[in-house]
Amino acid sequence: MSDAPILQVDTLSRHFPVRNMLGWKTGAVRALDGVSFEVRSGETLGIVGESGCGKSTLGKALVGIHPPGGGRIVFEGKDITGQSANERRAVAPKLQYCYQDPGNSLDPRWTVRRSLAEPLVVHTALTPSDRNARIAKIMQQVGLPLTHLDLYPHELSGGQQRRVGLARILTLHPRLVVLDEPTSGLDVSVQASVLMLLRELQRAFSLTYLFISHDLSVVRMMCDRVAVMYLGRIVELAPTETLFAAAKHPYSQSLLSAIPDIGGRRVTDTFTLEGEPPDPARPPSGCRFRTRCPRAAPVCAETDPALRPITPAQSAACVFA
Ligand SMILES: Nc1ncnc2c1ncn2[C@@H]1O[C@H](COP(=O)(O)OP(=O)(O)OP(=O)(O)O)[C@@H](O)[C@H]1O
Ligand SMILES: [Mg+2]
Repeated sequence: MSDAPILQVDTLSRHFPVRNMLGWKTGAVRALDGVSFEVRSGETLGIVGESGCGKSTLGKALVGIHPPGGGRIVFEGKDITGQSANERRAVAPKLQYCYQDPGNSLDPRWTVRRSLAEPLVVHTALTPSDRNARIAKIMQQVGLPLTHLDLYPHELSGGQQRRVGLARILTLHPRLVVLDEPTSGLDVSVQASVLMLLRELQRAFSLTYLFISHDLSVVRMMCDRVAVMYLGRIVELAPTETLFAAAKHPYSQSLLSAIPDIGGRRVTDTFTLEGEPPDPARPPSGCRFRTRCPRAAPVCAETDPALRPITPAQSAACVFA
């Protein structure tokens, strides 16, 4: 891993319109609301947070699936935010998103072979025989037999579908891959083999990962650093072990207190998280976590705390951190 950032994200936002029964816009869901961070070349940066906090929207905004509403994305030193479709085509293969639900991201009418060939037809000038050679190689690298090339997605297991999803993006030789919940819905033994495969592929292809997951024990095992998101914002960013040992933001502390540590011991027992997150179309004034925060004080309704360094490696967005 190097300290040089491969990706720099500055105050990225993405709002989705809320419409009433007549189709009139009545507000906006602030799925991303001023997100800034850097990803270092070769690292695995975890993104955690409750359902609906904006993790997938962030991943999709970075690779251009949802164009951001505001802010800046700099990839390998180049601002890619307002690129035309043509300019984007040069960057697209290097920046890939692996879908949260691989079954639905594969076309049910296509064989594995066709699903793997299609990105190569779109993004490369390989001849048919070179394409076939590359497809055969990637099948081997993701641990699938060549006989599976003629199967359809519904004929594959969940774990095999993930492997095809990974093969599909790795044939393009990306530099950064957004892995959206790469192990959700898999049983524990398949999860372990997918995680091992991700590690091997990271080494073989010198990949940088943005690792989105609900599963904090998987995040702890896989990630170098972790960003904690709450309601469209990053509220804490720290090296994995620092976060698990000494989270500074009350929300991170609550999230971590919900998972048992090795041996069944709780990581922290200071806080637990109650209730649902507020409506992202109407976040609270000031700090958006204050309505569920055990430390909330009057100042929290007035000040919207920015993510600021607590130590050189750890940042948090809380007036008390
Ligand atoms: N295409 C869309 N149109 C309208 N609203 C959307 C769209 N995509 C996401 N949202 C809203 O944006 C917010 C963030 O959604 P997102 O899918 O990024 O959450 P998430 O953190 O990935 O959740 P999960 O852990 O459940 O996958 C949610 O409130 C969601 O309803
Ligand atoms: Mg998601």
